[in-house]
Amino acid sequence: MIQVSNLTKRYAGHTAVDSISFEVGKGEIVGFLGPNGAGKSTTLKMLTCFLSATEGTATVAGYDIYDNSINVRKHVGYMPENVPLYPDMRVKEYLTFRSRLKGLGFRDTKKAVNEAMDICSLSDVDSKIIGTLSKGYKQRVGLADALVNKPDLLILDEPTNGLDPNQIRQSRELIKRLGERHTILISTHILSEVEMTCGRVIIIDRGVLRASDTPANLVRRLQAAGNVSLEIKGDAEKAEEAIRKLPGVKDVVKEFQRSEWARLSISTDSNVDVREDVFGLVLKKKWNIRELVRHTASLEDAFVDLVHHPEGE
Ligand SMILES: Nc1ncnc2c1ncn2[C@@H]1O[C@H](COP(=O)(O)OP(=O)(O)O)[C@@H](O)[C@H]1O
Ligand SMILES: [Mg+2]
Repeated sequence: MIQVSNLTKRYAGHTAVDSISFEVGKGEIVGFLGPNGAGKSTTLKMLTCFLSATEGTATVAGYDIYDNSINVRKHVGYMPENVPLYPDMRVKEYLTFRSRLKGLGFRDTKKAVNEAMDICSLSDVDSKIIGTLSKGYKQRVGLADALVNKPDLLILDEPTNGLDPNQIRQSRELIKRLGERHTILISTHILSEVEMTCGRVIIIDRGVLRASDTPANLVRRLQAAGNVSLEIKGDAEKAEEAIRKLPGVKDVVKEFQRSEWARLSISTDSNVDVREDVFGLVLKKKWNIRELVRHTASLEDAFVDLVHHPEGE
């Protein structure tokens, strides 16, 4: 559905997107992640023919972004960052206008607008002035606009930006449902959203592609080096010493000591789970224990690990 090859965008003296290449297959929901200023919006604008690339090529829905930009736009529903809408128009009126602009006939428009409003739960505000709607509704109008002509591909630039947690949850459900009918490329910085909706994640940082993998694989890669916490009562120093001798243990650090309880952080070699051995030791030494837990990495950890910048950079 999307093939990107060495796509580059340079603004006066500044490279916003630096020779990135990736693909998105038909039916995929792909999350496009990166810190602010990474070049996400610039990339999406090039793919939707709103901005010309400095170098490189891309085909979208089978059409070249230079030679066939009209067809690209016909087959892509694009929801830009900050959802530009006409605040003085009514919801249904606006979607009808947009649908006609996208080339649908009078009759098709009527049906398509009703369907889009239905999918995006807008039917009860169809005659409201857009400017008076809440942010969540406005986002949904933007989404309805993007999908009104049933494009094969939806490109959504931070569609949940500025929504509250309830609205984010609703929009997540909506995007999941849309994924049954459309291929979706969605830029966001809400990682829980990506973890739950996207089959694959592309991470860019400072215009450079850093990763393209499933959320599970990104996390697994990070998981390799493990970390276990143990809270015990009694002589923490002795415990540290004993645990350090266990196979696979790299280091033991005392995180804190509160009255007689101490919390130890145990780091281990890759793919070693020392919980069983630690528990064996606890039994043998008759320590009192109130917690033994292995920390699992999240997509957020993977993200931070990939795009971590030293302070001030
Ligand atoms: N029109 C522009 N002119 C000059 N620099 C720009 C322009 N648009 C974006 N940039 C710069 O390009 C980089 C990438 O921006 P952008 O694609 O908006 O990032 P993101 O969407 O990931 O936050 C940033 O450093 C930004 O300041
Ligand atoms: Mg952006």
